[in-house]
Amino acid sequence: MAAAAATTCSSCRRTRPALPAPAAALVVALLAAVLGASAGAGQQLDVGYYSKTCPAAEDIVRNETAAAVRESPDLAAALLRLHYHDCFVQGCDASVLLDSTPGNTAEKDAMPNGSLRGFDLVARVKDHLETACPATVSCADILALMARDAVALSKGPSWPVALGRRDGRTSAAATCAQLPPLRGDINLLLQAFAAKGLDARDLVVLSGAHTLGKAHCPSYADRLYPSSADPALDARYVDRLRMRCNAGDSNSTSELDPGSCVTFDTSYYRHVARRRGLLRSDAYLMDHRFTRAYVLQAASGRYDGHFFHDFAVSMAKMASIGVLTGDQGEIRTKCNVVN
Ligand code: HEM
Ligand SMILES: *[C@@H]1O[C@H](CO)[C@@H](O)[C@H](O)[C@H]1NC(C)=O
Ligand SMILES: *[C@@H]1O[C@H](CO)[C@@H](O)[C@H](O)[C@H]1NC(C)=O
Ligand SMILES: *[C@@H]1O[C@H](CO)[C@@H](O)[C@H](O)[C@H]1NC(C)=O
Repeated sequence: MAAAAATTCSSCRRTRPALPAPAAALVVALLAAVLGASAGAGQQLDVGYYSKTCPAAEDIVRNETAAAVRESPDLAAALLRLHYHDCFVQGCDASVLLDSTPGNTAEKDAMPNGSLRGFDLVARVKDHLETACPATVSCADILALMARDAVALSKGPSWPVALGRRDGRTSAAATCAQLPPLRGDINLLLQAFAAKGLDARDLVVLSGAHTLGKAHCPSYADRLYPSSADPALDARYVDRLRMRCNAGDSNSTSELDPGSCVTFDTSYYRHVARRRGLLRSDAYLMDHRFTRAYVLQAASGRYDGHFFHDFAVSMAKMASIGVLTGDQGEIRTKCNVVN
């Protein structure tokens, strides 16, 4: 498993109020329509999937996630990122949780693995669910629920999660090539999203997940040094980042949304608009007519409710990528090994 991060977000202030209740209700109402449409042929995800077989499932997940995030607020980012990596690589089938075996390097040990976290917490939640309802709730559904709860616990939106995913039986390092590239350009990002049925709006909206968490120095160091300096990065910000990120300093981290990295809000877009997005992929959002316009609008601070709604919609789309249902796959009893 990835080494613990050298710094945490615990020093971050919570800067923005939660979405007011009426707006939250709107999100839920609009989501009902999207969820109905998101289940394609053969994919029958359903919000009430465990209502008979494990009615306490969502409460168990939420309670456990809440306790953990209260203790370590920066775990919310880890959970959101796990679900993203799960869904983009071979569909939302919990393949990201499988351990390598002799002769097979799993996704979590692949190159872009860089620092995935939260595996212990997911295992703990799974153990609780196995006690309450043995062999019933899939690890892929647990990831989808924990990502939703992590966002809500960080003062972001909440949304109903359609359930019924089954767990895959394979995980291969090579499939991580399906993740959008960190370096390249906006077109490569758009292509990687399009390959998963996601569009430019989903790209700019889901990139808003970088309102939470942090990146390790190697993820952005190449933007800081003269040989490869990135003109898209604000020069004064470069000076500040260099103090925390010397070449070879692989354990140090910087917040993706400095000053607000445990609060789910629109301040990430303000940084991107001011050429202070930490990653190249954040900066690329300014290179395309639609994504740039979205960044500038969200950065104004007058569209937080829109962003919250959009995020819930795009998360529901992402959460239905390549899911296994019916008698496909299995319900793992331990998330890190196949049955
Ligand atoms: C658009 C393409 C994307 C790229 C190239 C990208 C790349 C990255 C990289 C390089 C990191 C830092 C890893 C490290 O150095 O430790 C990171 C962190 C993170 N990413 Fe993304 N990401 C993308 C999209 C997304 C999406 C769609 C989500 C979720 C919906 C997401 C959620 C996160 C979160 C929450 C973190 C912080 C993790 C932590 O604090 O442990 N990212 N991402
Ligand atoms: C979850 O927490 C709530 C509030 O603390 C409690 O009332 C409820 O019984 C808990 N549910 C489960 C399933 O643990
Ligand atoms: C990520 O994958 C690379 C290549 O497989 C491996 O050398 C490295 O140890 C992994 N990093 C982490 C943090 O697990
Ligand atoms: C980074 O962290 C690892 C594991 O905690 C440690 O072994 C290593 O010495 C650290 N490297 C640096 C450059 O601090």
